[in-house]
Amino acid sequence: MSKSIKKIGVMTSGGDAPGMNAAIRAVVRTCAYHGIDCIGIYRGYQGMIEADFKPMSARSVNNIINKGGTILKSARSDEFRTKEGRRKAYDNLLDYDIDALVLIGGDGTFTGGMIFNQEYKFPVIGIPGTIDNDIYGTRFTLGYDTALNTVVEAIDKIRDTASSHSRLFFVEVMGRDAGDIALNAGVGAGAEEILIPEEDMGLDRLLESLQRSRKSGKSSSIVVVAEGDRTGENVFELANYVEENLPKYEVRVSVLGHMQRGGAPSCYDRVLASRMGVKSVESLLEGKSNYMVGVADDQMILTPLDQAVKGHSEIDAELLRVSDIMTT
Ligand code: F6P
Repeated sequence: MSKSIKKIGVMTSGGDAPGMNAAIRAVVRTCAYHGIDCIGIYRGYQGMIEADFKPMSARSVNNIINKGGTILKSARSDEFRTKEGRRKAYDNLLDYDIDALVLIGGDGTFTGGMIFNQEYKFPVIGIPGTIDNDIYGTRFTLGYDTALNTVVEAIDKIRDTASSHSRLFFVEVMGRDAGDIALNAGVGAGAEEILIPEEDMGLDRLLESLQRSRKSGKSSSIVVVAEGDRTGENVFELANYVEENLPKYEVRVSVLGHMQRGGAPSCYDRVLASRMGVKSVESLLEGKSNYMVGVADDQMILTPLDQAVKGHSEIDAELLRVSDIMTT
C-alpha cells in the first residue's frame, strides 16, 4: 500500500443519482478501515475552489446508504474550467493536506479530473454515478438500476389510466443522449413501442406499428421515448403528428423528468456503490491513479479515465431484438 496517501477527498458532481450516498459512505468507511483520513468536498469542483470541506468519520455516514441524492451536494462549476480556478482548487487541497481524490459523477466530472491530474499530477479515481448508464468502462453506472425501477413503476401507473380510457400515451424518459433507460424500462413495462437515439425508427414505421397494434385488438398503447430521440422534434410534436395521422387514437403525453433521479437506491445500486467505494480507495492506496472503477461480468475493473471519457457504451443489440419481438 502507498505510504504517501494519508488523506483522501471525496466529492459528487454532475447530475445526482441514487447510490451516490452509498458510494460516499463506502469511500469514508474504507478510508477509516485503512486508518487514513477522509475529507468531504461539498458541491463538486466549485466547493473545491471555495474550500467547502468537512472531515468525514465512519460515523458521519450513518443512515445514508438508503437515501437518494448526495449529502455532499452537486454543482456545475464554470470556474473550474479555468486554469485560475483549478489552481485555487489545487492550493486548497494542499492547504488541507489532501493527497488524492475520489470523484463520483459522469463524463464531465471525469474530464475535469483528468485535466487536474495532467496539470498537477494529482491522484484521482472516478466512480461512475449517473442514471444514464452511458459511460464506457462499466456495465452499469450508479443510479441506473434504481431509475429503471422508478420508470417501470411510473409506466405501470400510466398503463392503468391508458387502458381505462383506451388512450395512446407517449412517455418521455431521461438518459440525455443514451437510450438505455428507455429500452430496458420499455421492455420491462411492456411498452408497445420504444424510441431511442441509437435507432431511427422513422415516423412511418411508428404509425404502421401503432396501426398494427390497434388492428390486433390493443385499445391502448404506451410508447416510451428517450429524451435524446429525434424521431420527432420533441415528444409533444411527435404526439401531435400521431394524433393527426391516427385519428382513432386519443393521445396524451407524460414527461417523467427529474423524479427519475430521486428515490431510495435499489439494493443492486447500494451493493454496487459499496463495491466501487472500496475499489476506488484501495486502488489509490495501491498507487493507481487516473482510472475509473467499473463493473464487468460482475467483477470490479479499472478503465483509464481518458478511455472512459472518450469511449461510447453500446446499446444492447439482443435486447433491441427482444423489444421488436415483444411488439407482436
Ligand atoms: O445526466 C443525468 C441527467 O438526468 C440526464 O438524464 C438529463 O438529460 C440531465 O441529467 C438533466 O440535467 P439537469 O439536472 O441539469 O436538468
